Amino acid sequence: MPSMKQWVLANKPTDLPTVSGPNPTFKLETADVPKPSSSQALVKTLLLSNDPAQRTWIVPDADPNRLYAPPVQVGSPMSSFALAEVVESGSPNDLAVGSLVLAPTNWTEYSVHEIKGLQAIKPIEGLDLGHFLGALGLTALTGYYGIKEVVGATKDDTVVVSGAAGATGSMVVQIAKNIIGCKRVIGIAGTDEKCRWVEKLGADVCINYKKDSFEQDLIKETEGFVEVYFDNVGGSILDLMLTRMKRHGRIAACGTISNYNRPDPVGLKNFFEVVSMRLHIHGFIVLDYIHKFGDVVAELTQAWKEGKIVVDESMQTVVESKFEDIPNTWMKLFEGANTGKLVTKIVA
Ligand SMILES: NC(=O)c1ccc[n+]([C@@H]2O[C@H](COP(=O)([O-])OP(=O)(O)OC[C@H]3O[C@@H](n4cnc5c(N)ncnc54)[C@H](OP(=O)(O)O)[C@@H]3O)[C@@H](O)[C@H]2O)c1
Repeated sequence: MPSMKQWVLANKPTDLPTVSGPNPTFKLETADVPKPSSSQALVKTLLLSNDPAQRTWIVPDADPNRLYAPPVQVGSPMSSFALAEVVESGSPNDLAVGSLVLAPTNWTEYSVHEIKGLQAIKPIEGLDLGHFLGALGLTALTGYYGIKEVVGATKDDTVVVSGAAGATGSMVVQIAKNIIGCKRVIGIAGTDEKCRWVEKLGADVCINYKKDSFEQDLIKETEGFVEVYFDNVGGSILDLMLTRMKRHGRIAACGTISNYNRPDPVGLKNFFEVVSMRLHIHGFIVLDYIHKFGDVVAELTQAWKEGKIVVDESMQTVVESKFEDIPNTWMKLFEGANTGKLVTKIVA
């Protein structure tokens, strides 16, 4: 039986996961390569999606009933989504060997999946495959669902987007400004360089939240207050944004990365603003909109062909990594090392 490498969860961290030292969060193991049944395919992981949400799947003492995805158990492979290649098919008429698919492969070299649960990908000439995990993948769907459906942004709205230089945020900026035509789009990101790039994507302005002047800068740019806030980060930036919303303002609560590695979450000191300004805060999970994946990817691909949105190398940070380096590359999310989608390209 051939064997393969996989990363399993060694323990559930209370703060920043560790990849070395006395008590690392993950452990590299070997396992048998699984065999597909007649309804399954064996796939080889090529490109891993790096998602901040993976951190929320390894929280200690989480009540599974309060999570949207099953928590990873200690000793089990780390959950992950990927672009993979079919290397053996139980039903070649339904899915041929060599096909590319999106699959929940976990941090394993090989995995088996029911063929009917796999999303086949047709490569587009001139477009790197990594974009099927980002600008034309699940993070794009997240941005589209959040800004268009969840908070229903319109041409009359001023929109603030945090995490604006990340995979989701960079698509929200483009969809809001270049597809919906929102009146004004204000990005928030962690470096001046990222901010200038977010402005190139279409934001009217982008503010660096790591500068001492951030609060004054945000207050100045949101003079008159705003209708919509797309929140990728939670914490103190959300708290500040609660004070910058118009009456009946709408907030798309997409994620709270600023609190994912904190045992002592911060924020929401200004929650009374929600009451006094009659704010609508809408939490959402992209999986509830997954049935729209094909339609949305087709619409965004068309928008890219028409030159309305950018889907190029600036929209992703592809890190070539040996299998042994997968956790290290994932951790870059929490250092802000990525612009656009952080993709791990597994190399020998
Ligand atoms: N609701 C859903 O269905 C759904 C789906 C996908 C993603 N999400 C959420 O959306 C958010 C963005 O995810 P993504 O996949 O697009 O990742 P991403 O934005 O591409 O990558 C994470 C970025 O977060 C920023 N960041 C890291 N630590 C931070 C902190 N302490 N405070 C503020 N910003 C911080 C960094 O950018 P800077 O350099 O700007 O700090 C980093 O590049 C996450 O909260 C994620 O959980 C939700």
